[in-house]
Amino acid sequence: MSQEPPRMIGPHSFLLKGFASAEAASLLVDITSIGTQSPLRHMTTRRGYQLAAQMTNCGQLGWVSDSKGYRYQTDDPLTGQAWPAMPTSFLLLAKSAAQHCGFDNFIPDVCLINRYYPRAGMSLHQDKDEKDFSQPIVSVSLGIPAVFLFGGLRRSDTTTATLLEHGDVVVWGDEDRLRFHGIAPLKLAHHPLTGQCRFNLTFRRAH
Ligand code: SIN
Ligand code: FE2
Repeated sequence: MSQEPPRMIGPHSFLLKGFASAEAASLLVDITSIGTQSPLRHMTTRRGYQLAAQMTNCGQLGWVSDSKGYRYQTDDPLTGQAWPAMPTSFLLLAKSAAQHCGFDNFIPDVCLINRYYPRAGMSLHQDKDEKDFSQPIVSVSLGIPAVFLFGGLRRSDTTTATLLEHGDVVVWGDEDRLRFHGIAPLKLAHHPLTGQCRFNLTFRRAH
């Protein structure tokens, strides 16, 4: 893991450049195995729009979106089975990234896995379906680069743009926990470990 000090992107928000680089290949092996149990899929919004990133989850809970809206649930609606367990390596990485940024005792119960192909992005949103906002968000980027848009507590607040590359980790919490954020549509690129796509692991404490 990198020993670079966290770069502040907000009062309680940090970029850990290359923090997960050394483990990236093994994280990708685990992602593939999770995908064989709970496949990556396009979820839809309440209004019937398809989300551009494909998603799956591991952990005690998973984030889902469909015609009934957003929520966390213990079963994968696609398989009717529990979500795959969160690999210990995922848990340790998330805890250690949080700790590096001053968030002790982070124990995520969800890891949302997003897969983006070129042109896919994610519009500005808040992560607010969780019960306890005292716990941070830990977000790991793998594969081709993306631009992370980080706004304020109101949707209309201006955003800053941060390039997220393979192995980068972003952590935000405390007063920044509910800041709007999103991903600009990805440009066409190639990464030796993922081909033309980007994976993002978002760790959260939902319950
Ligand atoms: C998310 O906000 O759930 C995903 C962010 C990212 O892909 O980096
Ligand atoms: Fe998010």
